[in-house]
Amino acid sequence: MINCDLGMSKPFDIEIGRLTGPANYSEVRGVVTGQRGTFFLETFGCQMNDHDSEKVAGLLLSRGYQQVETPEAASMILYNTCSIREKAAQKVFSRLGEYREKQSAGKVIGVLGCVAQQEGEDIFRRAPWVSLVCGSASYSKLPEMLARLEAGNSRVTGLDTDTDETFETPVTRRDNPWRAYLTIIEGCDKACSYCVVPFTRGPERSRASDSILREVQQLAERGYSEVQLLGQTVNSYADPTTRKMRFSELLLAVADVQGIRRVRFTTSHPSDFTRDIVEAIEREPKVCDHVHLPVQSGSAKVLRAMQRTYSREEYLEKIAMIREAKRPIGITTDIIVGFPGETEADFEETLSLLVEVQYDSMFSFKYSPRPNTPSLSMSDSISEEEKGRRLAILQDKQREIQAAKHAGLLGEGFEVLVSGKSRRENQWTGYTTSHRMINFTSQERELLGTYVQVQVTGATPNGLVGEHAV
Ligand code: 5AD
Ligand code: SF4
Repeated sequence: MINCDLGMSKPFDIEIGRLTGPANYSEVRGVVTGQRGTFFLETFGCQMNDHDSEKVAGLLLSRGYQQVETPEAASMILYNTCSIREKAAQKVFSRLGEYREKQSAGKVIGVLGCVAQQEGEDIFRRAPWVSLVCGSASYSKLPEMLARLEAGNSRVTGLDTDTDETFETPVTRRDNPWRAYLTIIEGCDKACSYCVVPFTRGPERSRASDSILREVQQLAERGYSEVQLLGQTVNSYADPTTRKMRFSELLLAVADVQGIRRVRFTTSHPSDFTRDIVEAIEREPKVCDHVHLPVQSGSAKVLRAMQRTYSREEYLEKIAMIREAKRPIGITTDIIVGFPGETEADFEETLSLLVEVQYDSMFSFKYSPRPNTPSLSMSDSISEEEKGRRLAILQDKQREIQAAKHAGLLGEGFEVLVSGKSRRENQWTGYTTSHRMINFTSQERELLGTYVQVQVTGATPNGLVGEHAV
């Protein structure tokens, strides 16, 4: 499961140099940008959704649409949605309400992603001004769907999840010029009892290793130095080609591509987290020293009810295996509080697990009952107030852990990839290989996209501050 950053709406530019795809992009037959109209694409949810949007944008651009920055300027408004928790799904309908007016101005409105898959044709009933509803497993059929929209059809759907295809496009319009997302496995075959993903994204499908490596090569040629391999359970990767590359071999092969300096991967499932992945990190410094390993709960009983396929002890064995690595590896996690039947004692076990593991960072959520999921039939017995109380206690505990960890890094030096520039003069932001963010000062004029050495001079529970060490 990939982490969500709700409400994420990204700025973009459509500079052609940022498009990644075949070198002969400009030769894509018959393409004149804007000849088919303009589109505005807004994305909610996880990195997987972000990257899907990059591919959808690439596909639309290659068909002659032009991307614009406001819904007002667009002839087609697309909304790539998230339904992981109820709040996220509600947001879609309130946003669709805002779009209502715009449809009367003759705009095509489409809902993509997880809410589209989950609500299906019901969206037409709730928001009749929508004319396209398409889940992620059907994106490869988008060209046909666009043709039907262009022909004036106002009820176009792509809701099939029964597919063995992954979504590959000849052109991807990437948002970030240094870090490229790359989906290597889509869908999910696990059946965590609280989770909509197996329903909204369909069964697990892995992309062919040769195709992944070709894309990484193209990315490196275009100046990308960091790639992030994505999947709901990225380490369940199963190469469909005769090469049968293991996930750890794929990590090493990606790192081997000339020009690539960092390889990240997220999200790992504990049950499929094997020793060879740790060995790949130990062996190859380009494979980043960071593992996102969601535990969800510290209670054996709750883990069973969640159908997580591992016990607390088994999870802790995986942690021990990672901690024994020759190179220190950062570990982050996801936790849900207030799952049906979670007692105070169960919650205490989650707190004790936090203390035992000493995570570098944590994403935490209040349990939210979701349609189609097995846990929907369990009584959501814990009040919102109690969920909120547990969440606050959990976050306080993690803050303490992080404060102590960060304080221990004072004076240390890290290489960071500079990814942001503050409005305040001489202030920059970068990420270490273990995905720690550092805000730092530098007198240099242009650092974006470069790798620099930073010395940590200050620490808070939420982050590090430092100075460019020249
Ligand atoms: N309620 C609350 N949190 C959830 N997550 C997934 N489904 C739910 C749900 N129904 C959380 C898990 C997952 C993260 C991305 O979102 O912690 O790892
Ligand atoms: Fe992750 Fe479980 Fe959901 Fe699959 S079913 S995406 S493993 S939380």
